[in-house]
Amino acid sequence: MKDLKAYIQDNKDRILNDLFELIRIPSISSKEAHKDDMYKAANWISEYLVKKGADQAEVCDTEGHPVVYGEKIIDPSLPTVIIYGHYDVQPAEPLELWKTPPFEPEIRDGKIYARGADDDKGQMFMHFAAFEYLVNTNQLPCNVKFMIEGEEEIGSPSLGNFLKENKEKLSGDIILVSDTSMLGAETPSITTGLRGLSYCEVHVTGPNRDLHSGLFGGAVANPINVLCEMIGSLIDENGHITVKGFYDDVEELSDEERADMGRAPFDDEAYKNALDVHELAGEKGYTTLERTGIRPTLDVNGIWGGYTDKGAKTVLPSEAHAKISMRLVPHQKSEKITQLFKDHFLSIAPKSVKVEVEFLHGGEGYVSPTDTHAYKAASKAYEQTYGIKPIPYRSGGSIPIISMFEQILETKTILMGFGLESDAIHSPNENYPLSQFLKGFETIPYFYKYFAEK
Ligand code: BES
Ligand code: MN
Ligand code: MN
Repeated sequence: MKDLKAYIQDNKDRILNDLFELIRIPSISSKEAHKDDMYKAANWISEYLVKKGADQAEVCDTEGHPVVYGEKIIDPSLPTVIIYGHYDVQPAEPLELWKTPPFEPEIRDGKIYARGADDDKGQMFMHFAAFEYLVNTNQLPCNVKFMIEGEEEIGSPSLGNFLKENKEKLSGDIILVSDTSMLGAETPSITTGLRGLSYCEVHVTGPNRDLHSGLFGGAVANPINVLCEMIGSLIDENGHITVKGFYDDVEELSDEERADMGRAPFDDEAYKNALDVHELAGEKGYTTLERTGIRPTLDVNGIWGGYTDKGAKTVLPSEAHAKISMRLVPHQKSEKITQLFKDHFLSIAPKSVKVEVEFLHGGEGYVSPTDTHAYKAASKAYEQTYGIKPIPYRSGGSIPIISMFEQILETKTILMGFGLESDAIHSPNENYPLSQFLKGFETIPYFYKYFAEK
């Protein structure tokens, strides 16, 4: 690629300033109060894409937050790359744990600190930068379409319909996404798997009011005690999930495939140290990368009820609640798992309480084949900039819309993520190393180049 390294050096400060402008818009999709910010961010991106050389861009209304669509068609007979990203971010709470305010980006120790620095404004911006470079240096080898949504962090409730309604407009040869991580800064890797998700909320109701825990305790079921016992029974001593039928459709990998996976460099000690835990925990018989990559899991994401303010209040609460998510692997269907979970959870409820299970959202996982032209183009791109072949690996995270790209648009996705585990996405002090941003910026143009060379 002509003058790529020089282009990056000469333009990176300006491009980072542009990214910072976008980061300053607090586009938190889950909060009603930020509805205007969603439009602000969408308009900003739409105008930016046109400034950077798109033929046209538009902010498309949906039932929820808008989708930005932009395109540059240089020759309809050439291949088309669709760039997907999301401009929405997670809430920044707890705010007091941030060293600098979440929506005032700052560079410290070579890292950008802000909500969205990695997930996904920072990663998405590598694509805007690569596009700008390819256009400005007359090296764009194919057509480009951008689809940037604002509801990824809330499960993309409107994007499915948007895909159905705009199938023609969104036709392309490959969808390229940077919204995942790599195994390490020195270990280039391509995400070949994402897990599916089923997310439920459970409600346990006991007596018709909060009771005095002395007068009634011991004689009336305590919904929090009951909920904890029910949750405790969902995973056995081997780390197996006890929901009936849960493993029926789980894809079992061959010993050979597992051995292949095991070649990815991964250090349990470093992992433990980074998290300040003395021991790892999970399903017996599986390694850490297998536990997150190829095995399904069940986690309580939040639990509440009773008295939680300062001091003591002797109360037997009338209600208890929990948010429970299950990460799913290939062939497990979110809808089926949700039903199995509901049936199981209701079946283990004692008669002393009333239990309800509410489905919040979910979606299917994704497995990317490695024998395709697109995967090979991505692999060659990393080889070009890192000097070594990237390792394919399955991530534990989820981007449910990726499987809908395949179902609705009938287009496969390549996940070229440059995030690191230490980026603290969804956490306080989210960050993105500048070196990762620049490496992504450098690698993406090669994907275009090799993908266009059929
Ligand atoms: N970008 C993440 C997913 C991700 C991160 C995948 C790192 C692989 C590596 C995405 O924005 C995200 O947070 N997804 C949610 C699911 C969504 C339905 C809320 C998740 O995985 O919890
Ligand atoms: Mn993301
Ligand atoms: Mn996210």
